[in-house]
Amino acid sequence: MKTSVTIIALAILLASCTSKEPMGKLIEDRLARSIEQYELMAASLMDQPDRLPRDIMPDGKLRTTGPSDWVSGFLPGSLWYLYEYSERPELLDYAVDYTMRLVDQQHNRGTHDLGFMLYCSFGNGLRLTSDTVFRRILLTGAESLASRYNPLIGCIKSWDHNGDKWQFPVIIDNMMNLEFLMWAARESGANGYEAICLSHSDMTAKNHFRPDFSSYHVISYDTITGQVEKKNTHQGYADESAWARGQSWGLYGYVVMYRETHDERYLTLARNIASFLLSHPNLPADKIPYWDYNAPDIPEAKRDASAGAIMASALIELSGYVDPATAKTYLGVAEQQIRTLSSAEYFAEKGTNANFILKHSVGHLPGNSQIDVPLTYADYYYIEALLRFRKTLK
Ligand code: GLY
Repeated sequence: MKTSVTIIALAILLASCTSKEPMGKLIEDRLARSIEQYELMAASLMDQPDRLPRDIMPDGKLRTTGPSDWVSGFLPGSLWYLYEYSERPELLDYAVDYTMRLVDQQHNRGTHDLGFMLYCSFGNGLRLTSDTVFRRILLTGAESLASRYNPLIGCIKSWDHNGDKWQFPVIIDNMMNLEFLMWAARESGANGYEAICLSHSDMTAKNHFRPDFSSYHVISYDTITGQVEKKNTHQGYADESAWARGQSWGLYGYVVMYRETHDERYLTLARNIASFLLSHPNLPADKIPYWDYNAPDIPEAKRDASAGAIMASALIELSGYVDPATAKTYLGVAEQQIRTLSSAEYFAEKGTNANFILKHSVGHLPGNSQIDVPLTYADYYYIEALLRFRKTLK
């Protein structure tokens, strides 16, 4: 009798250890906690009207940045997402305030990052409010982004820095700015934006990808001949390595281009990138990538929560474009990524982590910058992944 009671107790204990929290419940809980955390974050900078969050300082305090930093759109974007989910008026006020901090960036012709900056902020704002002021700002911003297109090369120039090293650098991250320009193409009509996006996507597909569908970080083009002059990395381990966030940007970028164009070539590329990532021997069982798939110190290498969050969000969307068996695989990986990022290891307690949601991202390891820190874009794509996964449960 005593033995069987012990066995039953053990079985119950084992079941409670191995049973997973239902995804719906987990998502609602983490969204509620994200709202609490980001209301603290937003409140903390209300007395500094030109500042936005960047990362964390060694003493644990928030490090801020100005509106021209490429990350400036992620806090407002996250606030819009959390407002969309909760309809809390406080979040609407914060979202508008932080979005308007970026108003001058519509004229910024010195960066390709205007998609991240303006579409996450004003773009989500327009989607949720139909405010015509936001629309006008976005269209001016799209003009600024398109001004960086070079018709000889067929791409948008990513960076103006390091001019002594690269004539015309195009980074894989640049795929993420095309969603904004595709929106502007639809919205403004005949101004060549769609052709720019298609050319940029095709050139990137041709030159950034290796036969195994991993991608280079930086491809630089010769401005006289229009040909590739260099294949490098900037934030990855090596020129020939697979920098984790870059792989996630590429995946996400081609999923978006398929959504925007229905061109099967983009879907095939997105699926091939996903296959490369999902079958990679260095993708850990919890599915949060090391900062570079070829980092020499794996398994001790740092993880990059941002690469995991971006990949999760992209896989959820991609699951909507493929056959049921493949969709199940993609959603299974995204679920694991969300579960891992939602665990105590990655998800911060309220009021800690300088009020960021996630811990453990890597910004620029070779530059000895932002190693194992919270980052605004990890939070943004994590929230987006939560909201996207939530929709699949309905
Ligand atoms: N787009 C810059 C980065 O991913 O770090």
